[in-house]
Amino acid sequence: MKLKQTLIFLIAFVVAPVWFAHAQKSRSALPRVHIFTTGGTIAGQERSDGSGGYDAGKLAIDAILDSVPEIREFARVKGKAVAQIGSQDMNDKVWLVIAREVQAALARRDITGVVITHGTDTLEETAFFLDHVIASNKPVVMVGSMRPATSRSADGPINLHNAIRLAASPEARGRGCLVVMNDIIHSARDVVKMHTTRVDTFQSPNTGAVGHFFKNKPVFWNQPGRRALRFNIRQRNKLPRVEIVYAHANMTELMIDAAVSGKAAGIVVAGVGNGNLSAPAMAALDRARASGVTIVRSSRVGAGRVDRNVEINDDAKGFIAAGMLNPQKARILLILALTRTKDLKEIQKFFFAR
Ligand code: DGL
Repeated sequence: MKLKQTLIFLIAFVVAPVWFAHAQKSRSALPRVHIFTTGGTIAGQERSDGSGGYDAGKLAIDAILDSVPEIREFARVKGKAVAQIGSQDMNDKVWLVIAREVQAALARRDITGVVITHGTDTLEETAFFLDHVIASNKPVVMVGSMRPATSRSADGPINLHNAIRLAASPEARGRGCLVVMNDIIHSARDVVKMHTTRVDTFQSPNTGAVGHFFKNKPVFWNQPGRRALRFNIRQRNKLPRVEIVYAHANMTELMIDAAVSGKAAGIVVAGVGNGNLSAPAMAALDRARASGVTIVRSSRVGAGRVDRNVEINDDAKGFIAAGMLNPQKARILLILALTRTKDLKEIQKFFFAR
């Protein structure tokens, strides 16, 4: 009996406190990752009508985190909802809130990195925007999912697990904004959604992905490249309006004239081939340029470079060539460029910077 009491005493007053203190110490040594949620399918709930449909952005952050309880072995995680929208509704106002929240979190010495959960429809755009406005070497990781959180084989939990692991990893520093989906790690510059439904929808058609997850850890295939240009928009509560017009056979002046009437400060052409468009549309573009609208020629093709003065004399027309940027990313870079200058030579340098 005496032995039993002694053992109980030792466990209760010696072993347990030491174990608890050790557990606390090792937990406090874990990297701290902040998660900002915006909605999307990763927080989506299937409709109970058996239609296979779902509503994006329904689940709160804790419900999403509860789907990956093991993540608490690798990071101390705290979440905050900054929006609860399908990302087709992503807008400048939410972008500016996300940028402010992320910048403030990364300024804290105790925070290792941040994760933003987001719908996949415009995820590449928010990633590209943040890549150009966040001033920090710490990891900024964006993640979504193609299947709702409540579906069979939902991809959100593994994507979120990977995103948090990535944001907590030293190897992810100095790489700008990253996107992790389906075990693949992409840079914000080149990643694009390329399939409407598949879990491997995100691809990097020009440069390829920058790494992948192997045995639950991030493995990068190259050294960090040159960082994106940085635009300081911290004092701004509004961004310039830039529209995209999509070129096609028999294109008329209609959509370009509409963008000008809508007071667009810039127009990006999703041109055919090397950023080309029909004669009537070109005439409308010349009128737009003459009225002070900044014009960038990109391509609807989806990969490759749009260069200056190939079939169109950009020097004579005062157009800018988008280089490697697809129309949706060219639009974002033009928005940011116009917060700094309208000088065409300066803006062209931004597009050819990397
Ligand atoms: N509504 C779309 C969005 O929020 C769903 C697509 C998704 O999140 O995968 O982007």
